[in-house]
Formats: sequence, structure tokens, C-alpha cells
Amino acid sequence: MERTFVMLKPGVLQRRIAGEVLSRFERKGLKIVALKLIRPDKALVESHYAEHRGRDFYEKLLDYTLSGPVIALILEGEEAVFSARRLTGPTDFFESPPGTIRGDFAARTRLNIVHASDSLASAEREIALFFKPEEICPWEDDNGRWY
Ligand code: CMP
Repeated sequence: MERTFVMLKPGVLQRRIAGEVLSRFERKGLKIVALKLIRPDKALVESHYAEHRGRDFYEKLLDYTLSGPVIALILEGEEAVFSARRLTGPTDFFESPPGTIRGDFAARTRLNIVHASDSLASAEREIALFFKPEEICPWEDDNGRWY
């Protein structure tokens, strides 16, 4: 079973769409095993986006990510990395089709609403940046007892 990291960016709370965005991942069957609302500091955001340092959009990306609280979560499931990326849609909002989170909610690439890890290695790195091990809460499916 894979785990992936997802961050709902500050625009999600500003636009009051946190529930809608979270439900996209839940409806797919991905399991929330960690979730927190945090205002990340600059060091954390710089580490998270280290691979983009030097790109023309980097400073604005930092500004946006630091502009308000984010919702950080860990999702678990089969092919969780690929699955979360498919739900999220391509980074470039012009290419994000309707039905994806970015396709439905993002109007600019820089303000693209949600981040999802692009590989298992990135997921492990990003999970470790945002979460302490004791903040992760695994749980068992109960064969539909509550449905
Ligand atoms: P994210 O998936 O969080 O990872 C890196 C982020 O950089 C990306 O989403 C966008 O918010 C931003 N980004 C990537 N490419 C561009 C671009 N060409 N112009 C503006 N922002 C970008």
C-alpha cells in the first residue's frame, strides 16, 4: 500500500472549497491517514519546493504558499501517488481537463490549488518534511460495516 503527500494551498481555504477538494480524494477511495491545518514557515516551504529554486515563478510560488494556512495530508491506497496526481490534473491549468481538481477549480498555473507528490521518493521526502511519525494515524477498513 502506498502513501502520498497532498497539500491544499492557501486559495482553498480562502475560497471555502476545502470540503469539496478533500472529497475528491475520498470519493476515489484514498484513505486519509494524517491531516493538519498549518501555516508553514519559509524554511519548510523552501525545502518543499527546493527543486524549483531559480525558476522564474519560484518567488511568487513561495509568496503564495506562505500567504495563509494550508491543509497538509497523507493519503494511503493502492497506487496512491499516481491516483492522487490523476485526480489533481496537470500542473499547467490550460492542460487540466474538467473533472480534475485543477481543471475544475484553478484559473492560473501559479495558483493551482493543490500539490500532490510526483513520485514515491517525493512522497516520502514531503511526508517527512510536514509530518512527525506520531502524527500519522493508520486505520483498518472494516469491510463496509458502516455503509
Ligand atoms: P505544485 O504541484 O505545487 O509544484 C510546483 C508548483 O510551482 C506548481 O504546483 C505550481 O504552483 C508552480 N508552477 C509550476 N510551473 C509553473 C509555471 N510555469 N508558472 C507558474 N507557476 C508554476
